[in-house]
Amino acid sequence: MSDEPRLPDVPLPPATGETPLRTPMASPMARVRCPDPLVLVIFGGTGDLARRKLMPALWKLKADGLLPDEFCIVGNSREEITEDEYRQRMRGALEEFAEAPDAAEWEAFHKHIFYVHGSTDDPQTFINLRECLEAADREHGTRGNRLFYLALPPSVIAPTAEGLGRAGLVCDVDSECWTRIIVEKPFGKDLKTARDLNAALLKVFGEPQIFRIDHYLGKETLQNLLIFRFANIIWEPLWSRTYVDHVQITVSESVGVEGRAGYYDTSGALRDMIQSHLLQILTLVAMEPPASYDADSIRNEKVKVLQSIPLIQGDDVDRYAVRGQYAASGEGDKAMPGYLDEEKVPDDSRTETFAALRLTVDNWRWAGVPFYLRTGKRLPNKASEVVIRFRPAPHPVRDLVQADDPAPNALVLHIQPDEGISLFFEAKQPGLRGALRPVSMDFDYCKAFGTESPEAYQRLLLDAMLGDATLFARRDEVEAAWTLITPIAEAWAAGGKPEAYPANTWGPKGADELLAREGRSWAVPGTLGEVVKEE
Ligand code: BG6
Repeated sequence: MSDEPRLPDVPLPPATGETPLRTPMASPMARVRCPDPLVLVIFGGTGDLARRKLMPALWKLKADGLLPDEFCIVGNSREEITEDEYRQRMRGALEEFAEAPDAAEWEAFHKHIFYVHGSTDDPQTFINLRECLEAADREHGTRGNRLFYLALPPSVIAPTAEGLGRAGLVCDVDSECWTRIIVEKPFGKDLKTARDLNAALLKVFGEPQIFRIDHYLGKETLQNLLIFRFANIIWEPLWSRTYVDHVQITVSESVGVEGRAGYYDTSGALRDMIQSHLLQILTLVAMEPPASYDADSIRNEKVKVLQSIPLIQGDDVDRYAVRGQYAASGEGDKAMPGYLDEEKVPDDSRTETFAALRLTVDNWRWAGVPFYLRTGKRLPNKASEVVIRFRPAPHPVRDLVQADDPAPNALVLHIQPDEGISLFFEAKQPGLRGALRPVSMDFDYCKAFGTESPEAYQRLLLDAMLGDATLFARRDEVEAAWTLITPIAEAWAAGGKPEAYPANTWGPKGADELLAREGRSWAVPGTLGEVVKEE
């Protein structure tokens, strides 16, 4: 695909001149502006997320002119450090994970950063926080607008929300100032805990004030999926059971648990990745075009997809769900530890580090089309990819060229790295024999636009500050996802154990069999432009 598209001069149909019944809502991408004055409170303010992701994202938003002058950050954690130490740590975070801040800019910015130490189970913490927020309103003109970011373990989310409510730190939905809360994943660990958490949050906040984050939705390529599908007419006729044979969604990681075993061992790949990121990707691929692009219309369509997926339960769990756990592999400097060798992982852990599912979306568009999902740690590379495999051409071309049956077409959405889209089709190899070969048309984000995509957290923080919930999960969406995942998690907890796979391979054999039984195989996640290879 050329970087400078030349469009044919196609006459547009005449405008009808009719007034639309409803004014279409602007998409979130169209609503970028500087937010109103506010204070961002980060619970878990000294943690990894705050240092690695939130501070760098805020710094970039500031550089892009997307933070108001009347903006403050208040960090909270149990660590007894001074405000000055906190500011230094945040500066260190920028140096490590973004860029060394310009001295003059940092001098101005650091005066807007505050720290309130204290545990969230101590009411005094909230009293101190309230004083700090009132001072920010007085001295920095933040007008009572507050965004609470709960970068906290799941067990303290509900008590923290209650603490905020009790301390009078939550404005009503219709008051002049606004309050919003961002809740990090994991949002519960099954359907019941997710419902309980929703109920606890909804005692204090209204649904429009709750922003359940899934950082995959902030990734540029996932947002582009909506544009790709709904701003182009050419895909829509192909986007259904009539032409699609099956869909594969792979999110592979080469890293292991990276010191997060304390959390990961209680979660596993199914809860950590499939319940959130992979199901979110699936909904964007499978959803119907929404009536308009406001948050609720889009989320309504996503929820309908989740509700159309039949549950995998009972005997079907063994048939349609596969779990694996990485085992030690390699030698010398290529040696990789197994999951059970990782620090803080119990010797008898049955936690899966790989999960694969075969789902169907039983609706008019997708009936009978399998959606294969897989994710795992310690796989050969880090890649997130959607492969849409089309049905084979209905009539052989053997009489035309000396070739086997053509490979079916494929559309590959590369979410990361090498963000882009490739369309694979058959071409005649030059020469008298006329063999066929798959070739690709590639759209490379970086080349086409000459710029790096913004970090997911930039987009998500900005949207939460602007009050746009499109890229956040709604209550029913999270519960619908848990409805699908819970029976599988329960069946796995009840017995059996994950199948071992050597670190640095594509997961357990069971995952290959899941597709092989139906005459299919996984595509090896590749780099942009590489012909789709099957395992
Ligand atoms: C997180 C998971 O949500 O996503 C991690 O908890 C995982 O286990 C991470 O490593 C992957 O995110 P990304 O953006 O690096 O693909």
